[in-house]
Amino acid sequence: MTAMAVSDDALLARTAALFDAPASALEAIARDLTRQMARGLVGEPSSLKMLRTFTRPPSGRERGRVVVVDWGGTKARAGLVELAGDGGVRMVAEDALTFSEADKRGTPEPVFDLIARAVGRVVRAQGVAVAPLAFIYSYPARLERIDRAVALASTKGWRLKGLEGQDVAALLGAALRRAGLERVALAAVANDTVAALMLQSYRARGRDASARPADVGLILGTGTNLAADLGPAGIRNLESGNFDGVAAVETPYDAALDRELDEPRPGAQRFEKMVSGHYLGEILRRALRDLGQRTARFRWSAAPALATPFAVDSAHLSRIAADRTAALDDVDALLRSLGAPSTVAERHGVRALGAAIARRAARLVAAALVGTLRFLDAELADRRTIAVDGSLWGGYPGFEALVREAMVELLGGERASRIETAYVKDSTSAGAAVIAAVAAAQRSEGCSSA
Ligand code: BGC
Repeated sequence: MTAMAVSDDALLARTAALFDAPASALEAIARDLTRQMARGLVGEPSSLKMLRTFTRPPSGRERGRVVVVDWGGTKARAGLVELAGDGGVRMVAEDALTFSEADKRGTPEPVFDLIARAVGRVVRAQGVAVAPLAFIYSYPARLERIDRAVALASTKGWRLKGLEGQDVAALLGAALRRAGLERVALAAVANDTVAALMLQSYRARGRDASARPADVGLILGTGTNLAADLGPAGIRNLESGNFDGVAAVETPYDAALDRELDEPRPGAQRFEKMVSGHYLGEILRRALRDLGQRTARFRWSAAPALATPFAVDSAHLSRIAADRTAALDDVDALLRSLGAPSTVAERHGVRALGAAIARRAARLVAAALVGTLRFLDAELADRRTIAVDGSLWGGYPGFEALVREAMVELLGGERASRIETAYVKDSTSAGAAVIAAVAAAQRSEGCSSA
């Protein structure tokens, strides 16, 4: 090897090591998160909003048909879901739509109209005359009732003009009326983390009425967030993507990304910007571009397809991690498709960096889970269930094992073994139906719980 290659190797290794997140740092992060949960809950300054959800664990016997809307990213879905009353749930029909970048920056009404039209297609195709609708709005929103949610600043690259401060349930209701769907009545609005948590509880209790409901709902996809059942304080949406106690494991790439994006604004969604699928590929792209300037490798990172922010996404990261061939043939194909012919050494470099970035994300997730669970049970004496959904958890090879490994480092094997993670794939629409059915039961009891 030449002297130059050695120093390039060293630089690459040093860059990958920037993404280390040692157990001591994770422990401090977990403790900070527990403290910020307590503060958020009593309205003291905190990066965790601890938003109310106005729902409660299902019995597992909920039944009926519910129209659902799932809006949380570039895609939205309308659907019809049937709850069987024994923990069983069936997606009867579904209609998906994709938003353009222009949609994300316009006024809210056209977006709600697109969603309402998708609802119209589903209910007409299925011959649904009258039905309750559950709306999963997977952005920060302050619920004031189960069917009233005031939008807070958006995440995941959305910036609708004038949305903040408006009731998103009322906006959808108005769009449904404009679409001639007066008889579809908005019954509940909720976050996707809550849908995951509720679906897991519904399934478990439907099978076994004595089963404990899930404790935590985690989404790890384009965005990330946690919901937790805090007992007397009810199920809360933490909006943990906004958790700001991450400075100890921040790299210059994270700092620059935070500074340079205007949506979410600098300082907001710090945890999400280091953990979720929307950002991991962008962190890799920035690290490669930097190394392309400082070493003899990765010069192609200046190629137009790679010079564009967000050109690398987390699906690419998953694909890179999945390539087990000696010469990384699929990484080669992927880079070529981005206009970057690479050497084998460069491909191994890309893979090592991607792995370091994903590993740090998994370890941060573990710290957040431990911090949340300790809030519920400081000693972690009881068994706990975390319902998880999202493309990063489901799609990145070995992500769950990385999270587990860090949990064991933080808690020891025995305590960690009491924490179950249940992967509830495609939970949003099904969980929405459960939330609507619980809301109907709450209404007929004439009570509302926190
Ligand atoms: C949103 C959360 C959502 C999460 C996962 C975040 O960007 O703020 O409300 O639960 O993404 O979809």
